Amino acid sequence: MQSPVRDYLTEVLDSLDAERGGAVADYIPDLAEANPDLFAIAVTTVDGRTYCVGDDEVEFSIQSISKPLAYAAALADRGFDTVLEKVGVEPSGEAFNELSLESGTCRPRNPMINAGAITTHGLLVDDDADVESRVERARSFFSTLAGRELTVDQALHKSEMDSADRNLAIAHMLRNYGIVDDAPHDIVDGYIQQCSIMVTAKDLAVIGACFANGGVHPVTGERVMSRRIARQVMSVMAGCGMYDGAGEWLTTVGIPAKSGVAGGLLGTLPGQCGIAVFSPRLDEHGNSTRGVLTFRRLSTDMNMHMV
Ligand code: DON
Repeated sequence: MQSPVRDYLTEVLDSLDAERGGAVADYIPDLAEANPDLFAIAVTTVDGRTYCVGDDEVEFSIQSISKPLAYAAALADRGFDTVLEKVGVEPSGEAFNELSLESGTCRPRNPMINAGAITTHGLLVDDDADVESRVERARSFFSTLAGRELTVDQALHKSEMDSADRNLAIAHMLRNYGIVDDAPHDIVDGYIQQCSIMVTAKDLAVIGACFANGGVHPVTGERVMSRRIARQVMSVMAGCGMYDGAGEWLTTVGIPAKSGVAGGLLGTLPGQCGIAVFSPRLDEHGNSTRGVLTFRRLSTDMNMHMV
């Protein structure tokens, strides 16, 4: 169906289609096979209208965009005090796969980097949870937010597990410092299954709108998380979601956001909308090249900068 918003998004998509900068992630063997030319933009407003253009039905793995979602689930399952005791909220200023522990507490600096996300995954459900129950908690919560049943791509999970030395090393260090209790292999296995949950750009826009709408699902009207949790997650995304590119992102785009190495980029504009872009080529920070350009364009054209 034609609409002025859709026409505008089509124009943005067409204008950035020729952009070929960056490269698909290749440290996870299956991701190296991705079609680099795919490109989708989706927006869901807090009153539940979704506008999508391009390859908006193509599924890709959620990867690091799972981190803010799992953080919301862990806050709901364990409460703020328990989660904050284990994971901080400060930008690390380092790459996503650095250890980045705080001196003194040894907490990972935030839940958006791998060290913080591995810890957060281990907090899901309760102290007795196993790999299967944590992955199912993540999958079912993400499905509630998306408004459809999502699945874990087990072939992708295996492909990443076969080359997970760095995440395993991080998990060993976290256990050494008493931040996680689980066997490092188990916690990384569960975290990587969480990263292998498959979504579309449309799913991500709806998920973003759940946060932007203060925890109420924009389509079903169901409360899917508390207002306090939605605020906490969007705040951490604003400060830490774009890793060592977070400061530049906040000044140029000004929308809380999270990127994933499969090329997804999720934005949440409080009180207004969820925004998603999918395009697999990544820049030097591991953020989708066309995704960053699309957000810059939308932020400028529609005056979306938060401040
Ligand atoms: O743990 C990893 O390295 C991947 N499963 C996720 C990393 C990621 O998406 C970084 N974001 N841009």
